[in-house]
Amino acid sequence: MQLKYKIMVDPLIIRQDFPIFRHHPNLAYLDNAATMQKPETVIQGVANFYRKENANIHRGVYQLAIEATEKYERVRHRAASLIGAPSTKNIVYTSGTTAGINLVVQSFLEKRLSKDDEVLITAMEHHANLIPWQMVCKKTGAQLVVIPMNERGELDMDAFKERLSGRTKMVAAVHISNTLGSINPVEDIVDLAHKRGVPVLIDGAQSVAHYPIDVKEMDCDFFVFSGHKVFGPTGVGILYGKEEHLSSMAPVFFGGDMIREVSFEDTIFAEHPQKFEAGTTNIAGIIGLGYAMMFLQQYNKKQIVKYLDELGGYARQELKSVKSLKIVGKAKRKSPIISFHFKNIHPHDVATFLGAENIAIRAGHHCTQPLMDIFDIPGTSRASFTFYNTFEEVDRMVKVLKEMKKFLS
Ligand SMILES: Cc1ncc(COP(=O)(O)O)c(C=O)c1O
Repeated sequence: MQLKYKIMVDPLIIRQDFPIFRHHPNLAYLDNAATMQKPETVIQGVANFYRKENANIHRGVYQLAIEATEKYERVRHRAASLIGAPSTKNIVYTSGTTAGINLVVQSFLEKRLSKDDEVLITAMEHHANLIPWQMVCKKTGAQLVVIPMNERGELDMDAFKERLSGRTKMVAAVHISNTLGSINPVEDIVDLAHKRGVPVLIDGAQSVAHYPIDVKEMDCDFFVFSGHKVFGPTGVGILYGKEEHLSSMAPVFFGGDMIREVSFEDTIFAEHPQKFEAGTTNIAGIIGLGYAMMFLQQYNKKQIVKYLDELGGYARQELKSVKSLKIVGKAKRKSPIISFHFKNIHPHDVATFLGAENIAIRAGHHCTQPLMDIFDIPGTSRASFTFYNTFEEVDRMVKVLKEMKKFLS
């Protein structure tokens, strides 16, 4: 599936694929960790589906329905190739990262969990990879145990080893923190957990767009990500699961398109992944996700990482020249997600100042409230970059931050 010839990572050329920048020529969009802008191919792919190809899938025997089904199912191949999954049987369509995690919690973990068991998560989880585990622990009487980190935002792997025990029934860890930018050693996490026979879910919401992912090599049991964070539509996502897990899991949503046979007395479910995809899914969204992954696979991930390391490094360096600005999250291995704060300026005011100059960043707790409590701050301002962003956009952000400081003092 991978295209043979890769296109060079050149942000000025790549931007031309994104209509949003034609409509907002002066926009510095630095909120990519929240959601990414969409290339023309994705927008056209969704529009053309509704315009020319629309039919429901898996049901009709007429030409449009057959073609819609084939197109929809081809996206599973592309998702498998993007993350190195062995087969399309491992790829479950979901409505996003959150939905994938909830499915694993309810369908995989809940029946295995009882009082005195433990679930391990990291201190830097997005609420999506915290609350579902917290809720199932409350329901079963199990304990949610947190892997701590140091002040730079690096996981304390010794503490992780100590906390892994015979009681641990699951480990869930974010690959890249959406607040700190830390890249976690997921291979080590999986390795240590597996030595104790503990399954691991990796939240790849912030990693798939930029970093090479190979779930076979990583050996994680589950891997989740969202379409809208890989240049695709909102409301769709992927759950990867190992064959032995998906086949043993029962569906949690029931209805059409997930059955083999139904009578008034009983139902025999379809095999995975279909048994987890009840009802009419977001067909156009999945097809749009296929175009997004096709867009992404044109580029060499090594080149993307190189560019983003340079851009992120430059941004961190330049931000240091803004008086009294403190960067939160200084892990050695980090992605271009940069959180910062000022002692006496609220993050929302910072974002408003930048917004007035057409520079879009995010401010708040970024759905990581417990992490904010650890740093004892109400929130941060966060600039997050992808490979259509430029060094010039960093300069613009830093200039406005300096002007803001002058204005407020
Ligand atoms: C690390 C991480 N996990 C999970 C999520 C939730 O993703 P979604 O809202 O697309 O389900 C996000 C979204 O920001 C995220 O950054």
